[in-house]
Amino acid sequence: MSRLADRTVLITGATGGMGSATVRAMAAEGAHVGVADMGAVLTARLAQEVGGTPLVVDVTSPDSVTAGVNALVAVRGTIDVLVNFAGIVDPRRMDEIEPEAWSRVFDVNVRGTWLMCNAVIPHMPRGGSIVNIGSRAGLVGGTTSGASYAASKAAVICFTKSVAKFAAPLGIRANVINPGCIETPMLDHFAPDVVAAMPGQAALGRLGTPAEIAESVIFLATDASSFMTGAQLNVNGGSHM
Ligand SMILES: NC(=O)c1ccc[n+]([C@@H]2O[C@H](COP(=O)([O-])OP(=O)(O)OC[C@H]3O[C@@H](n4cnc5c(N)ncnc54)[C@H](O)[C@@H]3O)[C@@H](O)[C@H]2O)c1
Repeated sequence: MSRLADRTVLITGATGGMGSATVRAMAAEGAHVGVADMGAVLTARLAQEVGGTPLVVDVTSPDSVTAGVNALVAVRGTIDVLVNFAGIVDPRRMDEIEPEAWSRVFDVNVRGTWLMCNAVIPHMPRGGSIVNIGSRAGLVGGTTSGASYAASKAAVICFTKSVAKFAAPLGIRANVINPGCIETPMLDHFAPDVVAAMPGQAALGRLGTPAEIAESVIFLATDASSFMTGAQLNVNGGSHM
């Protein structure tokens, strides 16, 4: 089955845990993938592996975002799907965070998502799908995952609804996935006892896998979800219902 044959997909945070699994899953479905992340070596290696286009992009920089999007458009002409995985976490409580650290989390998670959507939408002339990545923390507030992070993900969830309303007349859908605890390098930012307690928070009693998030992205990227826009997909093993 090639659910994404001839589709051009741009994925940010592409060499991270969920990003790399999604790059491989979407390429296996026939997509040409723009592999966008900050590290030149890892993006080049992953793009070569899947026959995609490496894009060294810092999502907080308007110039870098524009250059990355233009580089993919130069190769493929148009873009069909944008997936915004790029994100950082700060696990600290609200009374532990410095103002600069608070802003950095919002710069990457919120401003980066906004810049990417703005830059890609003009290159989706035949319509398309945008998949943003929120978090369960953005629904329930920060406990283990920090106050700034939870607030930033709530902003991503709400911003996605604005994108959905803005882009619907252009034939572009926008939805957000709210993962629960997923086994990726991001969990290295948490204390071992916090990570050990994560599986028990889910009704299914385990962490999620990056492959399970990739499947949800493919669902939202394809016509299988053709009547969904401005929606949230909670992929959390039942840790929040
Ligand atoms: N792992 C979880 O349990 C979990 C749960 C909910 C939501 N999320 C979200 O899922 C997304 C993917 O996270 P992950 O778990 O794969 O983490 P990860 O740390 O493995 O991947 C994040 C990627 O984002 C990239 N990135 C960071 N800043 C960037 C910038 N300025 N420009 C471009 N790329 C940048 C990193 O280089 C990295 O490859 C993130 O938005 C994260 O907040 C993760």
